[in-house]
Amino acid sequence: MNLHHLKAYPHVEKALGLPDLMQSLYDEGRKVLMDQTLVTLHGEEHRARRLLEMRIFRRDFLRFYEEDVLPGLLEETLAPRLAAGRLEVVEFGYRVMIHLAIAFAGIDRQRFTDEESDGLLHMIRVFGKAATLGQLKGDPEPVRQEIREQLGIFERDFFLPSVQRRRDAIAAWRAGSLPEEELPRDILTVLLRNEDNLELASDVLRNEVAFFFLAGAHTSVHSLGHLVHHLLEWCEAHPEERALLEADALRVQRFAHESFRLHPSSPVARRRAVADTQLPDGSLAVTGDTVVIDLRQANRDESVFGADAAAFNPLRRLPTGIFPHGITFGSGAHACLGKALAAGTVLRGEQAPAEGNHQIGTVATIAQRLLRAGARRDPAQEPRVDRKIERETWEFYPLLLGAAAPAGDRA
Ligand code: HEM
Repeated sequence: MNLHHLKAYPHVEKALGLPDLMQSLYDEGRKVLMDQTLVTLHGEEHRARRLLEMRIFRRDFLRFYEEDVLPGLLEETLAPRLAAGRLEVVEFGYRVMIHLAIAFAGIDRQRFTDEESDGLLHMIRVFGKAATLGQLKGDPEPVRQEIREQLGIFERDFFLPSVQRRRDAIAAWRAGSLPEEELPRDILTVLLRNEDNLELASDVLRNEVAFFFLAGAHTSVHSLGHLVHHLLEWCEAHPEERALLEADALRVQRFAHESFRLHPSSPVARRRAVADTQLPDGSLAVTGDTVVIDLRQANRDESVFGADAAAFNPLRRLPTGIFPHGITFGSGAHACLGKALAAGTVLRGEQAPAEGNHQIGTVATIAQRLLRAGARRDPAQEPRVDRKIERETWEFYPLLLGAAAPAGDRA
């Protein structure tokens, strides 16, 4: 079997649209968590599930999550940290995003306690390992076991009670005693409403919801770390622009899109040819060949993004038709469903935002709130990148909050 590696932006974009290349990035993750989840399905089965789940990504639903759910979660999570005058970005990001992601997936918090949140935080960190199992160095079995254990806890403590509540709500709606608008707005409800057509076994439903929990939170937290880093570096280099960024959400969103471009959460997509396929670089992938589609390299293609493609430059001019975040959210049949939630409304080139109808996205919203809270680097603690995995990820990023002490008062 041959391995093909595509790196040029136009090749990467085209390859993601080829129908005979099947998802293979999660072959290891499928054995424990991702079996029959949307991202691993292919062909007609994938199309039918995706069409259904897309209903939950309607603009009014996304607005509801950005405007009604996120602000409360953000303030609730920030308040004790503001009082303490410090926070750590990765832990903070997870605390906010896990609750948004479970709401979106259709999982109810049962007890609303700190212990419950700690448990979910641990769970998502463990689920996150499923996505990178294929790249793990060493014996994967202990990691698989850890994932299975957490999936068992997820099923017992969260999934089954959430299914029951939704079945009851759907039954009440079918009986005419609950208006449709009062049904929960989440993936699990959409799937349960269509159970008869989809014939999903309970463990498939469970995996799908767990996958949405993972996909919704993990990637956004990874992106938040990078964005905060770039924003702080920018403000250190251009102190006069900090007030502008604190006031202008569109500007922070532009920074977010540039940061997404440089640091795709998934540096590569991976596919297996299920039929002989001509690749966009002219080579032939024969059935069974693997194609590595390099999103990170494509996003740094100088022929598209200019000679400074590898640098952070949120003010760069883009060629017509190119997204400012590059190919970070994928393209084609598996293109990210959650892009509008994470990145908001994406403008290309000189496009202007539509009045009153523009979303900022969770990642830029959280980062801007941190700037407004006075976020700055903690001189006493260096941030750290995660050296255990291949992709660049901040694993620890401490910040100070509140007004900085005047220079003369500093110790
Ligand atoms: C910064 C945040 C995010 C990034 C960078 C990102 C990136 C991606 C990428 C690259 C893919 C395509 C994978 C492939 O082609 O193999 C993908 C798929 C997907 N993403 Fe995201 N994602 C993000 C946030 C989200 C959120 C917030 C959600 C859900 C609420 C989500 C749900 C999904 C789903 C369901 C798929 C699978 C779609 C399919 O296979 O049809 N993502 N994402």
